[in-house]
Amino acid sequence: MGSKNKLKRFNENDTFHNVFQPKREDLVDAVYPLKGQWNQQFFKNNNPLVLELGCGKGEYTVGLAERYPNKNFIGIDIKGARFWRGAKTAIENELPNVAFIRAQIELIEELFAANEVDEIWITFPDPQIKYKRTKHRMTNDAFLKRYKNILNADGIMHLKTDSEFMHGYTFGTFAWSRARGPICQPRCVPPRRQPRRSDRHSNLL
Ligand SMILES: C[S@@+](CC[C@H](N)C(=O)[O-])C[C@H]1O[C@@H](n2cnc3c(N)ncnc32)[C@H](O)[C@@H]1O
Repeated sequence: MGSKNKLKRFNENDTFHNVFQPKREDLVDAVYPLKGQWNQQFFKNNNPLVLELGCGKGEYTVGLAERYPNKNFIGIDIKGARFWRGAKTAIENELPNVAFIRAQIELIEELFAANEVDEIWITFPDPQIKYKRTKHRMTNDAFLKRYKNILNADGIMHLKTDSEFMHGYTFGTFAWSRARGPICQPRCVPPRRQPRRSDRHSNLL
């Protein structure tokens, strides 16, 4: 995507009522006003709150929101020009249960209060196979701790991946974390067949 196009999308994101782009200092130097208040202040209901982390263009966020109108969905990604597509589609389709946040997942505890979240989806994250990239892997121990802190006691985390490495690494990380205090019970749903890249977004569950 050309830089002109990116700039256009950034500017358009600023005009969307369903896009939030807090500055880093808004999150780390102050209490973000919507932290703990997403349902009351933005969605205006008490429906379950579901996050998609590293949402890219927001296809899952929008697709799940259409399928489950009684849940609230927030897609989060650092790349605003990508989720512009999902935010625009949600506006065009008049979906009241969708929002997007441009932020680093590392700051998720500054965006959501303890127990505020019911479900987390992580869809096809970059497996970050090189050892020196471990800190960027979205299911490393530090990230799992952050997710646990914002999920309620019955909260669920879904990981969808077609990377054997990511699948094995995540199971291993869960086992390692359990040794120091249980954080969850992973359940593996084996694919009926090997997923193809082309059907990544058609199979939402
Ligand atoms: C491989 S893409 C997957 C996108 C989408 N989930 C899909 O299935 O098409 C990973 C996405 O995660 C985002 N991402 C990776 N690490 C992130 C971080 N620490 N904070 C915010 N976004 C991140 C990237 O910007 C990218 O859009």
